[in-house]
Amino acid sequence: MNNPKRYTVTAALPYVNGPKHIGHLAGAYLPADIYVRYRRLRNDDVVFVCGSDELGTAITIQALKENINPRDLVDKYHQLSKDCFERLDISFDIYHRTTEPLHFETAQAFFQDFYNKGLFEERTTQQYYDSEMKSFLADRYIQGVCPNCSSDKAYGDQCEYCGKSLDPLDLISPISVITGNTPTLKSTTNWYLQLEKYEDWITEWLVEGKKDTWKPNTYGQAKSWIDSGLRARSMTRDGEWGVPLPIPNADGKVLYVWFDAPIGYISATKQWAKDHNKNWEPYWKDKDTKLIHFVGKDNIVFHCIIFPIMLKASGDYILPTDVPANEFLNLEGQKMSTSRRWSLEMYEYLEAMPDKVDELRYALITNLPENKDSDFSWNDYQLKINSELLAILGNMINRVFVLTHKFYDGKVPFSTGCSELEMIIKAQKSKVEQALETYSFREAMTETMFLARHANRILTEKEPWKMVKEDKEKAGIVLFDCFQIIANIAIMIEPFLPNTSKKIWKSLGMNSKMSWSEIGNVEMIGLENKISEPYYLFMKMEDEVINKQIAYLEAKTNQTIMSTEQVLTEEKELNQMAEVSFDDFSKMDIRIGEILTAEKVEGTDKLMKLSVDLGTEIRTIVSGVAHVFTPDEVIGKKVQVLVNLAPRKIKGIESKGMILFADHGDSLAFVTADSTVANGSNVK
Ligand code: MF3
Ligand code: ZN
Repeated sequence: MNNPKRYTVTAALPYVNGPKHIGHLAGAYLPADIYVRYRRLRNDDVVFVCGSDELGTAITIQALKENINPRDLVDKYHQLSKDCFERLDISFDIYHRTTEPLHFETAQAFFQDFYNKGLFEERTTQQYYDSEMKSFLADRYIQGVCPNCSSDKAYGDQCEYCGKSLDPLDLISPISVITGNTPTLKSTTNWYLQLEKYEDWITEWLVEGKKDTWKPNTYGQAKSWIDSGLRARSMTRDGEWGVPLPIPNADGKVLYVWFDAPIGYISATKQWAKDHNKNWEPYWKDKDTKLIHFVGKDNIVFHCIIFPIMLKASGDYILPTDVPANEFLNLEGQKMSTSRRWSLEMYEYLEAMPDKVDELRYALITNLPENKDSDFSWNDYQLKINSELLAILGNMINRVFVLTHKFYDGKVPFSTGCSELEMIIKAQKSKVEQALETYSFREAMTETMFLARHANRILTEKEPWKMVKEDKEKAGIVLFDCFQIIANIAIMIEPFLPNTSKKIWKSLGMNSKMSWSEIGNVEMIGLENKISEPYYLFMKMEDEVINKQIAYLEAKTNQTIMSTEQVLTEEKELNQMAEVSFDDFSKMDIRIGEILTAEKVEGTDKLMKLSVDLGTEIRTIVSGVAHVFTPDEVIGKKVQVLVNLAPRKIKGIESKGMILFADHGDSLAFVTADSTVANGSNVK
């Protein structure tokens, strides 16, 4: 065996501002997992790190929306993501958190080092400030008209229509995404990393050095960023939910989340090394280590330019060998979005199909957005299961086992390895390797499945069930060969479908550890193997199950009325969402009311105490709208009220009923009624 090579493999640290969907899975986590499993089978020395990206504005904003503190928010979604990845067999060596003290120390040490080296420029600039929120607005939370293409939905950091990267001050008619107010300019001091000083270096290292090895989509995006010129970028910001700056006179300033988050890979490696009595440094500093970042396309710039500049600036770190970025996965032909409720969240899938992990992995792998956006659809998922996993792989194995039990007493017929088969398997091995080494996972999956197709072809051509009547030994050789193919598939398929691999391996009566180097061995299975009874690896995916999922997705996206309960309760509703009876609906007493008075509830950001005229009575209702509307804006509104919701105490106030809203993720609107409708009218 040649010397194991060392690999540090990272998958983008997901934000914990909500659940993560299968698009995230296909973007980074699944390809990374395939790659890592392959490396491990080759006995390479691999560490696979990931964890939650828990700081920064994305988190504080979501906490505001959910009316909980950031700590509770990150705890909740960290656990949810971690559990989902585990159940989906994403085999991280560690799933860390950027709120851990070890991470704070590591990130602060980076900042301190840069500061000492004089790499920062301290700049006082005018930035947009939302006086209602009493805070500066991160670039993402300012929207306005793009100076380049005039789209009216450009963000402060980038216009998603024309792709141009922007400065918030470039936007025409900016508004705060959170409150809808026009923000004001206020001056503030921050520490800027002068990226432009690294332009020559990055041109040489990336533009020239990675031209032939990086995926065209990754390379192209990074290059065009560099071509348009690097500018100094602030590595700090005003706020509290972040890593405090380790320098004097910087109260109220924290590290910019894109400064600390990638350092999270290093903190995670440190923690993993601690836990396993290892030294973390070779994984980040030894020039023979290959560092590979798996990310989605929205992360390319940070992993190809900014983080490498940071690593370079720090002096003794290695640089990424590769950044295999994927494009986006659509869902049923439309862009996936959790906030627009057009998504298949990982937890939703697991709830609906708890024992179909490899089925999902397969449907995603064969559809990975490797070079361009791709699409997940439930019908395609069904097809992949029924006509590939089941028809090609599962049935083949079943047939071989059935025949062996029927004609050979459940014992693998004896033969010796066939050199033609050996050649075929070895040829596949090198095709799969070639594909895996170049991150072409779709192709690698297809080439792996080729072996199952090949076994089917042998069975169809030779018809051992007929042959056995004339020449039992000859028919036995056919089955013997099929067993060798099955064993080789078990190894080759492990990176993709680990659970399937395990099942097959076990059914062959194999106890030994799998190793990639065994592939090509055509005498792996013999008389000594106690094979299991015939079994079905995959079950047929029925139309009803698929239709139910499609209906659920449609119901979910049409459900614009949101209660204050959020994502985690949806999990429970999953199987009830598709249909309700008229009886169910008529249990709800919804009426028109008019808001008479409104005041903010002390000590909360979101709650407003309202009195609502329902025609026959005036009710007190507490509603989570204070972050979107001022009291003056809601007084006089005609609204729809769920009157018979069980009363509950919120912040000591008895709230009787619930006001209905149309929720579009980022904005809330009352479901109003015409001013001529009398208070108390029924909504049916
Ligand atoms: N949290 C970011 C996202 O979800 C990814 C951070 S990757 C890291 O887009 F490198 F910064 F950790
Ligand atoms: Zn634009």
